[in-house]
Amino acid sequence: MDPDPDRTRPFGEHLLGVLTGGVLTMLIGIGHRTGLFEAAARGPATSAELAERAGLHERYVREWLGGMVTGGIVEYDPADERYALPAAHAAFLTGATAHNVGPVANSLGTLGSVLPQVERCFREGGGVPIAEYAAASVGGLGETWRHVYDEHLVDGFLAPVPGLLERLRAGARVLDLGCGTGHAVNVLAREFPASRFEGLDIAVDTIAEAGAERAELGLTNAAFAVADAADLSPAEPYDVICAFDAIHDQAAPQDVLRRIHDALAPDGVFVMVDTNFSSRLENNAGDPHAPLAYGTSLLFCVPTALATGDTGLGAVWGRERAREMLAAAGFTDVRVYATPRPQNCTYVCRRDEP
Ligand SMILES: C[S@@+](CC[C@H](N)C(=O)[O-])C[C@H]1O[C@@H](n2cnc3c(N)ncnc32)[C@H](O)[C@@H]1O
Repeated sequence: MDPDPDRTRPFGEHLLGVLTGGVLTMLIGIGHRTGLFEAAARGPATSAELAERAGLHERYVREWLGGMVTGGIVEYDPADERYALPAAHAAFLTGATAHNVGPVANSLGTLGSVLPQVERCFREGGGVPIAEYAAASVGGLGETWRHVYDEHLVDGFLAPVPGLLERLRAGARVLDLGCGTGHAVNVLAREFPASRFEGLDIAVDTIAEAGAERAELGLTNAAFAVADAADLSPAEPYDVICAFDAIHDQAAPQDVLRRIHDALAPDGVFVMVDTNFSSRLENNAGDPHAPLAYGTSLLFCVPTALATGDTGLGAVWGRERAREMLAAAGFTDVRVYATPRPQNCTYVCRRDEP
């Protein structure tokens, strides 16, 4: 039977939009890395002026501008051959802010470099060790979250947790599990000098970056260690354990959640910032953040977890599954708070009294 023409044409148009989005993502990554967006935000310019501003070759800049104009990102005035980045667009493409999508485009481009390894896993199973991502510089993911921490960590993620800021001001022992490049720890250590912060991560290169930033900031109340979260067993319990976007990446997430529960002081609190989706695919249909989350999960979260474990929760493990696993780890008092980012929520889990 021939396909229904009323459905074929719109679907073809939808696919064209998908392909266009793919290539524009690459072009946005170029604009971010070469400084073209920052240069364009300084005011209307011809391609030659823009190339000069950014210190680039005009022929390449002109072709990039063609994509930017027809892609609805940059405006073009043929009367004077000048290109303009409207302020409303620059807000999403420039500056060290959580709104800048440049780092996201950058990290998606980086993930493209592991496609052969991920495709091998489709055929043969297994996973892709995180070290292979480090070699391909997966720093874009860290860059995105840096800005999120600068803007939202204290006021957006932690402030809604009853009593938490007071506790950090008074002095608490805090662990950030799966701290990546450690920016959250460094931000908190600077903000709450009476508290002691530790960050742990299994990735050697990110911990090196974390330590370098701590030294640059001259912080004496922050420490970083390379460790497997599945081995967490501190000599002294923690008052607060945080995990920012890290639990769903664990090879043994249920074990790690149990370790977190057991590593907390009796009045301790576990603050888990994670993705804000349903565990049921059908409930995520129509969520504009969902395809990006499934995609990055497929290319990063699932293969890195399956490299050493057998769970591969993925970034879209969902609120229902998260609650089940937190309960299985021993947390019976779990509350979920909204965050300034619709794609994330905060689980606040109190440890039961022994
Ligand atoms: C998506 S990243 C989040 C990093 C950081 N919290 C942030 O928001 O920038 C997840 C982190 O979990 C770390 N991770 C994965 N498995 C781990 C394990 N078994 N032990 C410790 N860290 C682990 C990864 O190395 C990675 O840095």
